[in-house]
Amino acid sequence: LAAAPGAAAIAEAVQVQAGAPREATVLFGSQTGNSQRLAGRLADKLKALGFEVTLSAMNVYKPANLKKTAHLFIVASTHGEGDPPDNALPFYEFLYSKRASGLEGLKYSVLALGDTSYEFFCKTGRDFDERLAELGAERIADRVECDLDFEEPASLWFGKVLDAVQASVAGGAAVASQAVSAPAADSQGTENLYSRTNPFRAEVLTTINLNGRGSDRETRHLELSLEGSGLSYQPGDCVGIYPENDPALVDAIIAQMNWKPNEIVLPERQGEDATLRGALLRHFEITVLTRPLLEKAQSYSADGRLAELLKPENKDELRSYVNGRDLLDLLQDFGPWTLPAGAVTTVLRKLPPRLYSIASSNKANPDEVHLTIRKVEYESHGRKRGGVCSVQVSERLEAGDTLPLFIQENPNFKLPADPSTPVIMIGPGTGVAPFRAFLEEREELGSEGKTWLFYGDRHFVTDFLYQTDWQRMLNSGALSKLEVAFSRDSEEKVYVQHRMLEHAAELYGWLQEGAHIYVCGDEKHMAHDVHKALLTIVEQQGGLDSEAAAAYVAELQATQRYQRDVY
Ligand code: 2AM
Repeated sequence: LAAAPGAAAIAEAVQVQAGAPREATVLFGSQTGNSQRLAGRLADKLKALGFEVTLSAMNVYKPANLKKTAHLFIVASTHGEGDPPDNALPFYEFLYSKRASGLEGLKYSVLALGDTSYEFFCKTGRDFDERLAELGAERIADRVECDLDFEEPASLWFGKVLDAVQASVAGGAAVASQAVSAPAADSQGTENLYSRTNPFRAEVLTTINLNGRGSDRETRHLELSLEGSGLSYQPGDCVGIYPENDPALVDAIIAQMNWKPNEIVLPERQGEDATLRGALLRHFEITVLTRPLLEKAQSYSADGRLAELLKPENKDELRSYVNGRDLLDLLQDFGPWTLPAGAVTTVLRKLPPRLYSIASSNKANPDEVHLTIRKVEYESHGRKRGGVCSVQVSERLEAGDTLPLFIQENPNFKLPADPSTPVIMIGPGTGVAPFRAFLEEREELGSEGKTWLFYGDRHFVTDFLYQTDWQRMLNSGALSKLEVAFSRDSEEKVYVQHRMLEHAAELYGWLQEGAHIYVCGDEKHMAHDVHKALLTIVEQQGGLDSEAAAAYVAELQATQRYQRDVY
């Protein structure tokens, strides 16, 4: 005979029933994969506490299921001018539609990823948070917002959520914090020794300028060694690089403030990096001004105009001031300062890693990773400025040097699982990088599937990136078709979307055969116009009205057949 349940077990069962069920839904809206990985980590922690967890991208989640879940946790990033990531759109639109209502009884919390140098900081996460409250759901842990660096705030949010959810299942009673921090497996860093928080110093094997003489562009092809790192990657993944600020700018800042470059400002264990100069070179962002930075700096400035600029009614003036200016401008414009060197560690943001789409296949290049990095340079407020990483790579990096890097998986930009599925790739400029990886992979595997690349840049003669690779791949059969658009070789501009429209019937035919379509590169102009061209093609070739064409394209997106890596 089985033993009858003890009184304690019965009491426990009764107590569990008094609270919400041990069940939760974790949804993410993710463009580059950060939100997705953080959502996965929360899901792991909840599972470790015995929760039954549904983890899902927002575009594959059925909103009707909201009524069946007790706890909803959202991790969402914001892009460009306050836009939700592609895979957050369907759920976002659902919540703001009439179909969403009556979420009383649902308990939720939101983690928002963003960047304070954008006006609509964390807008997507804020919208989700506000809208869920409007719909009657109960916020059980306050929203946490991340300003670029998400590791620390995310850990804070995990803690708050786990506390709240434990209280929720216990029927509202507070739970001992010991129980909350019960073994919660953190999936990060278990597979690889090297990660975002512990980058690998990769040696530069090759660095060449892909643009020909006379081009107004400079695009570096970098080959880096991953030997001994244990790191590996899939086509579509990215590399994150921790760059170094321009030493000339660092020295100008130190001179401007009469600081001592060798003053120790960070814990000594970081060696040379612990000095003010090392910290400004490698640890802190000095090329972007944000409101939080100005707010922290303001108390050290004797110039009242800075406080004035920070008043809410002057937000347009603030935006126009910070645009195209850096820390040196700020220090020159609002002195005299009482800012001690040691305070830079609290005033400045951490220097964030720069993400680049990988341009090589790991299968075809064991122990190597290739990147395509275009130098960003411009002039503003009377001074030459540039992208921190791209200028370093172009001007101060040689074979034999090393770069601290990590692999960032991008689950939202992946080749079809079936190698015979046709693939359409649209990648002008450096947007072509991941397609070199895709095609190398298919070439290496000897895949049968058809492939079609749309590439564009300014001039055929000087800007045709990887021309010889495409030629080889056309010969080997890895690349079936290549369309090019050189925008400045003719009177009229020709762009990749014009080539798509010229081949509308065939392109639609490929889609009907099940092709996957990929877009990589500039978000603001190119990706937007390419999206419009795609809608036009589907409308015209499919004989659909604009609503039905939009639904066709949305379905492509929802089924991961239309993927974008845009920046
Ligand atoms: P342009 O510089 O001559 O305008 C890579 O940068 C290529 O993308 C260049 O040929 C650039 O052309 C082009 N490009 C610029 N805006 C674009 C847009 N809205 N759509 C597609 N391509 C664009």
